[in-house]
Amino acid sequence: MNTDTENYGCEVVCFTGDVGQGIKELEGLEEKAKASGACQLEVKDLKEEFVRDYIFPCLRAGAIYERKYLLGTSMARPVIAKNKFRDYGVIYSSNRLWWMLPKKLEPMSSLMDAQEQEMTRHVRFELRFFALDPKLNVVAPWWEWDIIGREDAIEYAKKHNVPVPVTKKSIYSRDGNLWHLSHEFWFVFFFTFTDPANEPKMDMYMLTVDPEDAPNEPEYLKIGIVSGLPVSINGMELSPASLLSELNQIGRRHGIGLVDMVENRLVGMKSRGVYETPGGTILFTTVQELESLTLDRETMQVKDSLTLKYAELVYAGRWFDPLWESLDAFMKNITKTTTGSVTLKLYKGSVTVTSRTSPFSLYRQDISSFESGEIYEQFAKMA
Ligand code: ARG
Repeated sequence: MNTDTENYGCEVVCFTGDVGQGIKELEGLEEKAKASGACQLEVKDLKEEFVRDYIFPCLRAGAIYERKYLLGTSMARPVIAKNKFRDYGVIYSSNRLWWMLPKKLEPMSSLMDAQEQEMTRHVRFELRFFALDPKLNVVAPWWEWDIIGREDAIEYAKKHNVPVPVTKKSIYSRDGNLWHLSHEFWFVFFFTFTDPANEPKMDMYMLTVDPEDAPNEPEYLKIGIVSGLPVSINGMELSPASLLSELNQIGRRHGIGLVDMVENRLVGMKSRGVYETPGGTILFTTVQELESLTLDRETMQVKDSLTLKYAELVYAGRWFDPLWESLDAFMKNITKTTTGSVTLKLYKGSVTVTSRTSPFSLYRQDISSFESGEIYEQFAKMA
């Protein structure tokens, strides 16, 4: 007997979204679903939708949380929530398997994730369901039953024959998708890892090589952008998900995109996180650079100030809110001229820009050459 039949007396369908977390994470889910009492498992490929409708808008907006975090986990929540909602309307999750109570049965959704301890993440999912339909009644077993921590959840899963890959000995809490892989540390007695004073161990990285082991030769890369959205690599046009996968491979070789930070969580505490975002780091540098040619001073200043709010909303799980939608509309409009190409040099963990061109460039070589001439004189007098 599974939790849903125990508590709600209804048949459950299990759902998981493939956002590029890798084959390993999706392995064995069917057996797990059936062993846990589900009548069916649906695995939906959300990769293109995720990159096109969630990652790329954040990229276009320049969204970055607390100066360093490229929002990989935060962006994946709404695409999963939306797909669950679209297909079933009611949700219950357990350890990355999403239990769906079919719409016709009850207007109710519930959330519990044995691998996800922080309230923040539940809040983010729940907020998205409410944004999609405020009438939904969210039943969150994590809060309502006697599961108060990750260890309880592991115990509970064991008792109910839900195979969970984590053990109490695991150190890292990881969350991966096509954009990034995050590593957090969940057991406080692993002081070495939780203490932000200590350097992360290089062997924990999975998407990137140690920059010190990267090739001694740099690699050059030309990326094409149209209206703030990436479209090509070295002249070859690719779909959003293929383009990002390709950049992940290239970035990986050169040890690009490692971030080690302490961040303010939504619920008020600080946490130490380590992120790997190889392709994303390359794309961020690209779009930002192009805008140095195409945005005038006032526009850039306003964009940069709104970007902070945009990132905060994404982090807080407020995707689909009217405020987010309005900010996104602004970002879309303001980046109409973010078109052109940027050439980058990748070398041992660093991304350097070597060239940028745009048909909408506002740069005038004749004016900015600082030679005294008629045009420069005019501008100098006005300055
Ligand atoms: N701190 C990040 C966020 O809240 C990443 C969370 C990732 N989850 C994990 N289990 N490592 O968006």
